[in-house]
Amino acid sequence: MKIAVLTGGGVAPGMNAAVRAVAQAAFGKGWEVAAVESGYAGLLEGRFRSVDSGALSGWMSRGGTMLGTERSDDFATDEGKSRAVEAAREAGVEGLVVVGGGGSLAGALALDERGLPVAGIPATIDNDVAGTDMSIGVDTALNTAVGIIDRIRDTASSHHRAHVVEVFGRDNGYLAVMSALAGGADAVLTPEFETKPEDIVRLLEESYEGGKPHFVVVVSEGASPTADELCGHINDAGESYAADLTAAGHIQSGGGPTAFDRILAGRLGAAAVKALADGDAGKMMGLQGNVIERVPLEEIVGEDRPLDPGLYELAGELARIPR
Ligand code: F6P
Repeated sequence: MKIAVLTGGGVAPGMNAAVRAVAQAAFGKGWEVAAVESGYAGLLEGRFRSVDSGALSGWMSRGGTMLGTERSDDFATDEGKSRAVEAAREAGVEGLVVVGGGGSLAGALALDERGLPVAGIPATIDNDVAGTDMSIGVDTALNTAVGIIDRIRDTASSHHRAHVVEVFGRDNGYLAVMSALAGGADAVLTPEFETKPEDIVRLLEESYEGGKPHFVVVVSEGASPTADELCGHINDAGESYAADLTAAGHIQSGGGPTAFDRILAGRLGAAAVKALADGDAGKMMGLQGNVIERVPLEEIVGEDRPLDPGLYELAGELARIPR
């Protein structure tokens, strides 16, 4: 048996660890493994590279994706998807593991429906894939965001200035809420919940009056007001309310994966190979509780993983202002 593995969509720390796990588990079954370069774009063009155990040395701890990932307009078409299946067949590939976020998993479903057996592994820092409690990369990105918030707070306390930290998440506030919770932020804005900038300025006033030396707001991309608008609003509110903006940006999607992400990658990678070996394709491997489940791709494609409102409320509750 020969399988291929690709990484798709936005990069997430732990993608390399997932590819390594898939390959190692496949080698354990005596299978051949081909790595696909540059995601679906490379699959279409038949860019396969044979890998052996030696070629994967050191991949566990590497950030980014060693296979590359590229958006492909061609693959978005029906004809492109059929050509991708054809390219896999020509290379003798009998099964494919796709490591990526919602868009990549939608591609995986389309290929599976066209006759190429596919197993999906959720990997995105946004944690917006349905059917899994955690995607690969979330824990690392979260720890990176918390590290940034901790450092910003040091600066904020020393200068007595307000700081707005913008975190990634596309249109999902998970990273923002969890990093606000773990970073002890004074407020958090997400795309899911509306916040009036005047309310943040009032919180800031109360915070300073209560004797807090800093005021740190975490704003998710996709939130309204945006981080930039909120910063402007605070700066316009009066001389004593200067605010600075730090966008954590692509720092969050880089870096070596945490132990959690490495282990998750190992568990999901091995489970994907087992699913293909069992002839149970068309599934995504998801972490539910502490168990890895096979979730039909058609159940999760196009679905959201909504932010838990309880966690959003908790972030507000734990940010109480001293009286
Ligand atoms: O979906 C992953 C993600 O990192 C988002 O959090 C972010 O909005 C986006 O990708 C960044 O994408 P790009 O690297 O294409 O700007």
